[in-house]
Amino acid sequence: MRTPLIAGNWKMFKTVRESVAFVTDLRARVSAVTGVTILVAPTFPALPAVAAALEGSGIGVAAQNLHWEREGAFTGEVSAPMLREAGAGWAIIGHSERRTLFGDTDDSVNRKVRSTLTATLTPIVCIGETWQEREANRTLEVLDRQIKAGLDGVTGTELAGSVLAYEPVWAIGTGRTATPAQAQQAHEHIRGRLTQWFGPDAAARCRILYGGSVKPDNAAALMSQPDIDGALVGGASLDTDSFVKIVERARR
Ligand code: PGA
Repeated sequence: MRTPLIAGNWKMFKTVRESVAFVTDLRARVSAVTGVTILVAPTFPALPAVAAALEGSGIGVAAQNLHWEREGAFTGEVSAPMLREAGAGWAIIGHSERRTLFGDTDDSVNRKVRSTLTATLTPIVCIGETWQEREANRTLEVLDRQIKAGLDGVTGTELAGSVLAYEPVWAIGTGRTATPAQAQQAHEHIRGRLTQWFGPDAAARCRILYGGSVKPDNAAALMSQPDIDGALVGGASLDTDSFVKIVERARR
């Protein structure tokens, strides 16, 4: 019932020109692929050109961050309606790099989530524990806090159309992936909490992605887990060959 989703998080990589060349190639290479939602998240300046290059392809475009206010004196920030107009349909929120390097908190994540929903952008809300928290047996407690606070005020209907990404911080960019069993255990827990807090229907429809060193050779095993509905891919999304392989491995 949940269509798998593969999202490429390009972080601060690719110029506008490189981004357009990449998606032009990607578009041609996945034109026959069905049954998988594909998204790319370029840098802000590349959003309009990438969206134009993907027009009519079915491949979605995501922003990597946003400010929660519509407009205002917030130098350097970009709002959800502005991103929508620039061609984004989705927005990554609360990525661990934003939480650790740029001060995102559960509270700011929540404001961002609400502003995307108001602007009809689909939020991709990132949660996940650090290695220290895992070692201290606090993984599930951290996930609970991030879900509860991050999704405060979100309705079941809104949750059903939203996306969560479980990204253990220790697995991001490290080449150290969670095992399929570790990832499934976290995803099952997350789905259980969504069921409890938003109802079984919303929980069954919300897609939960895994992120953290997803590569072509580990994608199939991760994606075969019942509660893993796709992947948020960083490093391996920067290369068309590896990104397309991951997309192919997500097909159900
Ligand atoms: P990675 O990044 O695939 O390079 O580990 C994942 C992410 O940051 O979303």
